[in-house]
Amino acid sequence: MLSIVVAVGLNNAIGKENGLLWRLPNDLKHFRSITEGHTIIMGRKTFESIGRILPNRRHIVLTRNRDFHFEGVVTASSVREVQDLVSNEDENFVIGGGEIYKQFLPFVRRIYMTEVEIEVDADTFFPEIDRSKWKVIAEKPGVLDEKNTIPHRFITLECI
Ligand SMILES: NC(=O)c1ccc[n+]([C@@H]2O[C@H](COP(=O)([O-])OP(=O)(O)OC[C@H]3O[C@@H](n4cnc5c(N)ncnc54)[C@H](OP(=O)(O)O)[C@@H]3O)[C@@H](O)[C@H]2O)c1
Repeated sequence: MLSIVVAVGLNNAIGKENGLLWRLPNDLKHFRSITEGHTIIMGRKTFESIGRILPNRRHIVLTRNRDFHFEGVVTASSVREVQDLVSNEDENFVIGGGEIYKQFLPFVRRIYMTEVEIEVDADTFFPEIDRSKWKVIAEKPGVLDEKNTIPHRFITLECI
């Protein structure tokens, strides 16, 4: 099974100049707790913006560049190849960025979305989803403190 994990600002903003748009340590913890022990699937640009292997996760990086190699990374050259690499019994997580979300959305059953209440200048966006085809199955407000100052909430959407 494929799921998406994403943090979106207002207007579905997710990134700019191959970086994130806000600092929200709570969301990084949330991301880790969801993905740890599982496979994470990402585009080459997102992998380069992370810049390292995240512990306890199998990494699949999509690239069309056959010369791309990174120790600890499995590369895939198409969506189909990723589907062949992952097992359907496990939950496997598509973690971005914009190009990859768009291509995988039709195959995803669940979306773990952090909604961040911030308006920012962005160059990368999460695709528009038809909310009538998705139901919210879990919802939790983010707790604000001195390190987490932007209002946010964690929702889980499941394909109807
Ligand atoms: N807010 C969030 O939750 C979140 C999460 C992740 C990323 N982001 C942000 O999103 C931005 C990056 O997104 P992006 O859309 O620019 O790039 P991306 O989706 O991370 O990566 C795009 C790259 O993936 C490869 N690719 C795409 N489709 C492919 C296919 N069908 N087969 C094989 N390879 C394929 C290509 O790599 P090659 O060029 O090597 O062929 C392409 O250049 C950054 O700003 C990042 O910070 C935000």
